[in-house]
Amino acid sequence: MDIYRAIAAPFLFNIRAEAAHRFSIWALKLGLAPRYRRKRHENLATELWGVRFPNPIGLAAGFDKDCEVIAALLALGFGFVEAGTVTPRPQAGNPKPRLFRLTEDRAVINRLGFNSGGHDEFYRHLNSWRSGSGSGPIGINVGKNKDSDDAVADYVAGVRRFAALADYLVVNVSSPNTPGLRDLQSKIRLQELAAAAIDARNEAAENAGDTGRCPLLIKIAPDLGESELEDIAQVALESGIDGIIATNTTIARPPELQSPAAAEAGGLSGRPLFEPSTRVLGDLYRLTGGNVPLIGAGGVFSGRDAYEKIIAGASLVQIYTSLVYRGPGVAARICDELAACLAAEGFATVSSAVGARHR
Ligand SMILES: Cc1cc2nc3c(=O)[nH]c(=O)nc-3n(C[C@H](O)[C@H](O)[C@H](O)COP(=O)(O)O)c2cc1C
Repeated sequence: MDIYRAIAAPFLFNIRAEAAHRFSIWALKLGLAPRYRRKRHENLATELWGVRFPNPIGLAAGFDKDCEVIAALLALGFGFVEAGTVTPRPQAGNPKPRLFRLTEDRAVINRLGFNSGGHDEFYRHLNSWRSGSGSGPIGINVGKNKDSDDAVADYVAGVRRFAALADYLVVNVSSPNTPGLRDLQSKIRLQELAAAAIDARNEAAENAGDTGRCPLLIKIAPDLGESELEDIAQVALESGIDGIIATNTTIARPPELQSPAAAEAGGLSGRPLFEPSTRVLGDLYRLTGGNVPLIGAGGVFSGRDAYEKIIAGASLVQIYTSLVYRGPGVAARICDELAACLAAEGFATVSSAVGARHR
């Protein structure tokens, strides 16, 4: 019997979405997550930026914002976990309620607004995990405070603080819930931000006496037109950014949404995001000639969905909303499905399938 489906899911879906999220973090901290049989799939192991990933299915940013439960999340079968978004100073985020399930649509709307314990708290959690037995690929997603008047300085502070402890860093310029944030995706501002973040990352490596430099990624929105994507591709190629995450949540509301909560303001994730985010991912792969590693996020619920992201150009895939609807066994299940799917399509490895749709 699946204990999650029988007991936890009915309870979690009966309480408010944000309370359910807090409860899940609490249960993970206490080691109460159900245990799932995790198979090792040789064809899912992959390497990117010199980092080894046991499988390409990661947990997207926003679930573990304060880096409280990464070990428990890795134990659920995720190939990597991205913690954050973390802001330099603690901030409360937007007034509640600010998280809504769109159950009929297999979707979520959030307008959390970067609720964050701040760099210091995040660092304490991350450092104590790393100084224990903590290994396993971890991305750190950094943001800016809402009341900050120097966005670049906030991102640079995040990069400096976490470069030595992360397997990759993400400059998040695509949350729809912090006013003005997404304007940082415009060409000139992105050039300036990318250059400053790369300098900070390089300095951090020199100060630590590291030969390796922490890969630095940007995370973009799905609500961008062709010319904006061309600009982003050009900045990525010219600046030396190590990768792009496509995509964050959307401010669009597809007309087919059924749930009453569809009218709420915020970023929409889940099933309705699959198609637009995969389109942006594929466009970026084409515009960068496959020369910038991409992480595909948006609406992945199954191994087949993950496969679609990979052949569109994703070297790695992330999920969040399907964890809400399919439960804590979702990563292990998607891995089983993806391993079978790759084999059935004639691919021996994940990397050989990346971008296959474009060939
Ligand atoms: C409740 C919630 C909170 C999120 N918070 C963040 C965040 O802090 N930083 C970020 O970069 N993305 C955040 N995201 C976006 C996800 O990382 C992901 O890009 C998006 O939800 C699309 O994936 P999905 O359809 O699998 O959920 C959040 C998403 C949700 C649902």
